[in-house]
Amino acid sequence: MAARVVAIINQKGGVGKTTTSTNLAHALANSHKKVTVIDLDPQGHLAVSFGTVNPNIPGIDDVMLDKKDIAKNLVQVRKNLQLIVAGTRLKEIEQLSEGGADRGRLLRKALHENLKGQDLIFIDCPPSSGLLVANALFAADEVLIPMAGDFLALQGLSHMMGTIKRFENVLKKKYKLFIVMSRYASTRKMSKNVLNKVLQYFPNQVLSTAIRESALLAECPSYGQTILDYRPGSRPARDFRSLSVDFLEGRVM
Ligand SMILES: Nc1ncnc2c1ncn2[C@@H]1O[C@H](COP(=O)(O)OP(=O)(O)OP(=O)(O)O)[C@@H](O)[C@H]1O
Ligand SMILES: [Mg+2]
Repeated sequence: MAARVVAIINQKGGVGKTTTSTNLAHALANSHKKVTVIDLDPQGHLAVSFGTVNPNIPGIDDVMLDKKDIAKNLVQVRKNLQLIVAGTRLKEIEQLSEGGADRGRLLRKALHENLKGQDLIFIDCPPSSGLLVANALFAADEVLIPMAGDFLALQGLSHMMGTIKRFENVLKKKYKLFIVMSRYASTRKMSKNVLNKVLQYFPNQVLSTAIRESALLAECPSYGQTILDYRPGSRPARDFRSLSVDFLEGRVM
């Protein structure tokens, strides 16, 4: 079976894209799925989150700029889990004015044809709606949108949905799309209000498990550990394990 290719996007910064990419991918790898994560953000935070990876090694930049073989740049970061770093030249792509569609096609081909035996491929995107995100949307068939629980996040979400719709029209495809509440403060009234609004506008698209706010999630990247390495019995670790089941089974609120 072909791998599910999932772009993790939100043009708003700091909403939990990288935290979701890292911990969801690790939870799925722990349930015996073969997972690859691609860092499509020049900030390179995904490599840092998994630890011990030198972010200056060749990564997806090599594949998209020089058509290098993606398989050569894989780094095994955990059991069943491999990473492709951003690479130092990825930021150049955001500035290039030509070849956008070609690079999207190149990325799609690399992920769909040259990554063997994978069940799931996640693309951690930068906080923009620029060329790199366009390339990710070209390559992916599914979209996962991490959503913080504040009011401004709601506006960001409708903008995001507009971008995705435009892509659907141009590329003549329909994404399987899920939203995850990634920084949910269950004690805050605002979080609940925002969630209710999201459910109202996007019914059947919010994954069942909300990832709650937790200082542990903010701490673990500084040790190069996922939450499942760092505190496997903690509440956020349980949240991510539960989210991984939602994701596999399409379980929604
Ligand atoms: N549920 C949570 N509870 C507490 N802290 C969190 C949670 N989710 C994310 N964070 C923290 O918030 C910060 C931003 O998260 P993260 O890097 O995952 O967001 P991002 O959307 O990838 O950001 P960027 O747009 O810069 O790529 C990080 O310090 C992260 O550890
Ligand atoms: Mg990020």
